[in-house]
Order: sequence, then C-alpha cells, then structure tokens
Amino acid sequence: MCGIVGYIGEKSAVDILLNGLTKLEYRGYDSSGIALNNGGHIELYKAVGKLNNLKENIRPIKDELDKSTIGIGHIRWATHGAPTTVNAHPHTCNCGKLVLVHNGIIENYQELRAELEKQGCLFKSQTDTETVAHLVAREFDKVKDLTEAVRLATQRIEGAYALCVLHQDAKDTIVATKRNAPLVVGIGEGEYFVASDVPAIIDYTKKAMYLDDNQIVTLTRTSMKLIDKNNNEIKGKVEILPWEPVALSKMGYKHYMMKEIHEQPSIIRNLLSGKITGINENLNLNEVQLDKETVKKLNRIQIVACGTSLHAAMVGKYILEDFCGIAVDVEPSSEYIYRKTVTDENTLVIGVSQSGETADTITAVKQSKKRGSHILIVTNRPDSTMAREADSLISVCAGIEVSVAATKSYMAQLISFYLLAIYIAEIKGSVDKELVKKLKKELIVLPEKAEEVLSQENQVKVISRKYANAKNFIYIARGINFPTALEGALKLKEISYINATGYTAGELKHGPIAMLDETLPVLSIMMKGKVYDKILSNSEEAKARNAKMIALTNSSDEKLNELFDDIIRIPETDEYLSPILAIIPLQLIAYYIAEFLGKDVDQPRNLAKSVTVE
Ligand code: M6R
Repeated sequence: MCGIVGYIGEKSAVDILLNGLTKLEYRGYDSSGIALNNGGHIELYKAVGKLNNLKENIRPIKDELDKSTIGIGHIRWATHGAPTTVNAHPHTCNCGKLVLVHNGIIENYQELRAELEKQGCLFKSQTDTETVAHLVAREFDKVKDLTEAVRLATQRIEGAYALCVLHQDAKDTIVATKRNAPLVVGIGEGEYFVASDVPAIIDYTKKAMYLDDNQIVTLTRTSMKLIDKNNNEIKGKVEILPWEPVALSKMGYKHYMMKEIHEQPSIIRNLLSGKITGINENLNLNEVQLDKETVKKLNRIQIVACGTSLHAAMVGKYILEDFCGIAVDVEPSSEYIYRKTVTDENTLVIGVSQSGETADTITAVKQSKKRGSHILIVTNRPDSTMAREADSLISVCAGIEVSVAATKSYMAQLISFYLLAIYIAEIKGSVDKELVKKLKKELIVLPEKAEEVLSQENQVKVISRKYANAKNFIYIARGINFPTALEGALKLKEISYINATGYTAGELKHGPIAMLDETLPVLSIMMKGKVYDKILSNSEEAKARNAKMIALTNSSDEKLNELFDDIIRIPETDEYLSPILAIIPLQLIAYYIAEFLGKDVDQPRNLAKSVTVE
C-alpha cells in the first residue's frame, strides 16, 4: 500500500507534499516522512503514527522549510519492519545524499541486502526499501547520472515498486519509476508532481501522465523525459484527468463511515437512473462491450475480488446463476492467481474492486486477459490500474470512499450486479419476464426503503451498545443473504476488533454450535422467502443453547418476539433484492459498537484502504 508524492517547481514543496500525503492517508497511516532539497542539502523529517504527528513536528520550523521547492514524501503501511521512525520512509544510502520513497515489496531484498552489506553498506532499518536506496546510490557513484542509476538498479529488483528518488548531487531533479504499482505524473506550469494516486495532485493540475511498468521519468522544473528500461526515449501519453478537486468533508457526521452509510440511498438512485428506463423496456447497460451473440454463448463466469468486494461478488454469483443460467465461480483473487483455472473464449472474467488498485485482483485480471477472456471490471475508480485492463468497464460511481471500512462502494457494487444480471438475462431470455418487471419496479423504490432503514438508526444504536462488550459474534443467514452475514461480520471485525464470523445457518450445527452460550450473540438474517422457515429453525437451535439472539428481519411476525432478545425490522422487498436493505443495519451495528468502544472508526488499526501489495 503506502502513498508516495514528489514535487519540483517554484512553490513551497512542504505544503504540497503534506497536502498530497493527507489525500493519500487512505493508503496507510503507520508513519510518514518527507525529504526536502534545501539549497542543495537534503533534509529528512519523519514521524511514527498518523500524518498529524509529522505535521506537528514540522510546525515550529515550517517557515524555514517553506524555502524548499523540491521534495518527496511518503505515508506508510508497514510490510517489512515495524512502524518505527527508523523504518519510516524516505530511506537513504550510507552518506545520506540519496533519498527515496517506495510503495510495493522488493521480493529479493534479502539477497540484495546480504550482497550490499558485504560491500560496506550500513543498513539502519528492517525495510526492504532500504536495499533500493543503497543499490541506486552505488550505481550513481559509478555512472554519476541519477536516471541511469535508477535504471540499472531497478533491473536487479524483483517484486513491485513505485519509486521517487532525489540525490543531492543530481541537482534539481526527481527521478521516478514503477512496476506493478501505480504512479502518475502531474504536469503544471514550471512544475511537476509525482503521486501514487490522483487526489494527491488534482488540487494543482489536471494534466497528467500515467507511467507504464518499467518506464522511468526524469523531472526538472522545466522538463520531463521518459525512457523505457532499455534507455530508449519514449513519448508518454499526456491526458486531462476527468476529475474535479474534491474537498473531502464529513458533512457534519462524526466519521466518514457514517456519512458514507447515509449516502447509500442516493447512490442507488444515481446508479439506476438512465439504466432502468421503464419496466417494460430492456435495461440499458452500454458499458458491457460484448455483442449479443457472445453474451448468448457465455458458458461460464469467473469473478475475482477481495474483502468486501468479494462479498458483493458472492451476491452477484447468486443472481447471475439464477437469472442467466450461467455457471459462476467466485474466488478470492489471492487464491485464483496461484492455481490453474479452466477458461475458454466463452468465459467472462469479472474483477470487482472499489479502489481498482488491489494487487491480487489486478494480477488475477491480467492472468485471465492473457488467456483471452473478456475482462469486465466493476470499480469505483474508472481511472485505476484495473480499469485500464478492462474490455468492459462498469463504473459504480459511489464517489470517493474515505473510510477504510467499505460501505457505499459495496452498495454500488451490489446494484451493479443486479443491473448486469438483468441485462444478460434479458438478452438471453433466460428469466421470467414477470419476475424482471417485478424486480425493476422494486429496484426503483429501493432508495426510499433504504432511507426508511436509516431512519431507524437510533434503535440500532441502542441494540449495538447492548452487545458492545461481547468478545465474539456470530452472524447467520442462508441463500442470497449468506454474503450479507459475511459482510456484516467483516465490518464488525475490522472496525471494532471483535471476533465476528458469518456462517450459513445450516452449518451452525456442524461445529460452531459448540461455541454457543449466554455470552455469545447470534444475529439471524431472516428475510421472507425460500429459506425463512429454515433459518427460523436454526435460530431456535441457537436459542436452545442459551445464545443471545438478535433478528434482522423484514417479517412482522409477532411470534419472533418470544425467540429473539432484540429485533431489527426493515421494510419488505423481494428476497432477491433483500441483501441491499439487509446490509445497512449491519453497517450501523459495526459503526456504533466501534464508536462506543472508542475505536478509530475511519482508520482502524493495521488496515489500509487500498491493498496494493500481494
Ligand atoms: O479496493 P478493493 O475493493 O479491491 O478492496 C478489497 C478489500 O481490501 C476491501 O474490501 C477491504 O476488505 C475493506 N476494508 C472492507 O471494508
């Protein structure tokens, strides 16, 4: 993960670097650091913990630092070595003249480090990155050219990297390069920016160039030179970013997560608009670039994703198989990439990712692309690395999601899967027309129903606080809401650190039931439909073991009051669509428990928003 920024121009670099790092804080927040070229002398400033610590350290000397107009910065999510000041980037060589920041993992760092130590390099940190600093510095000592030194050094590196490098003797120059990690160069008037992601530069320029793997860019205040790994000069593709600077705001909410939960009704509305034009008309999904004959011939769909996106994909599998009669496999990208998968030209591969930068999913998608599959990407970031691999691109348009816990992007992914499934089913004629009409009608009124769920926030808050001291939590569901149980449990785990697990309710008696007693809350997701009665019986079984029982249901059945200690009722909808409403109270439960426990809701420990390492 980690975020990197660089600036060369006439303005105060420190402001631009700190502002850029603030925008990249979603990538990690273990520690941060900047290096400034102060009149030909490189100075380093680092701090452990949130970026604010670095800002506070710098505050007393800020006026002095404002003179520097060249610098690089980094925000870290620790991979190698604990989050300490020594392990924070930028890293340096022996003499301190070279500094660099890195995002990625150097896989052969141990061999390189052993070799460099033999040659007299003194390592200060436990990071993989420091090997690159020594490696580039040694090459620089030989060739006296920073670009060439970076080119030669990176040829020895295995793994993934985005690098931004300064050297005291390569005056007024920044060199940057990347392999399997994102890097964008912002182009201003007499100034250049480098960053892991667009938000870090968009306040200053919309003109930008994305680097391709193994390209190296050399920036001075007035020039930009791009070469490939063989030292051939190449012309980069300069584009105007389709972005507006976004002033990130909590809009009066205490946390971004709560604001993002509340944005969900309008996200559903926006996504449906223009797609469902009438219940008797076929759905419009121009994003899918497969001709109708190819759609009809599809015999298999493979969906790859991680975390919350994986849970959205599991709902997707359910509806795609039911509506389209096509076999669908859903697999965590990190598993998919290490086994042989069976695909042919009639296989559609779907990559799902909020960020579009998740390393495992990018690798999975690239592998499938090589095998000739049509690649459909469902993402919130149409400008991401993954989106650039897409043959078809569904942009879920949820707006920037700041909180590490994904909520509104999950909702937008769900809606996208419903649209995709109906679109394919209509082309294939594989689903009952009356059912499709009913679902379209119901989808249109879902934003209001989602608002209704949110209006019960206070009741959910009271219930959440009642269970906030539980050490373990079980979520049970069946059928299309099993992914809802997994997602509800993941939300609780990641922001409250309570051990929460989602099970298919039928599996409870095959082992997990042994854990049940009066200290363990069981939350049953019981939506009216095929499996309602079954899950009711499974809930009885849990109750008989003295578990504390919570129901999340759209049934008004009064008898539930006897079985359950607490009941959260949500509006009725078709069973197929119920995951859309059912997830909202579970997001709220996770939020209120974490908030009650005093956890850092938006930036939970050990996590990062964008997981750019495998
Ligand atoms: O950006 P992606 O959707 O590819 O990210 C995948 C996961 O890292 C992400 O969903 C993660 O599980 C979230 N923190 C969940 O809230």
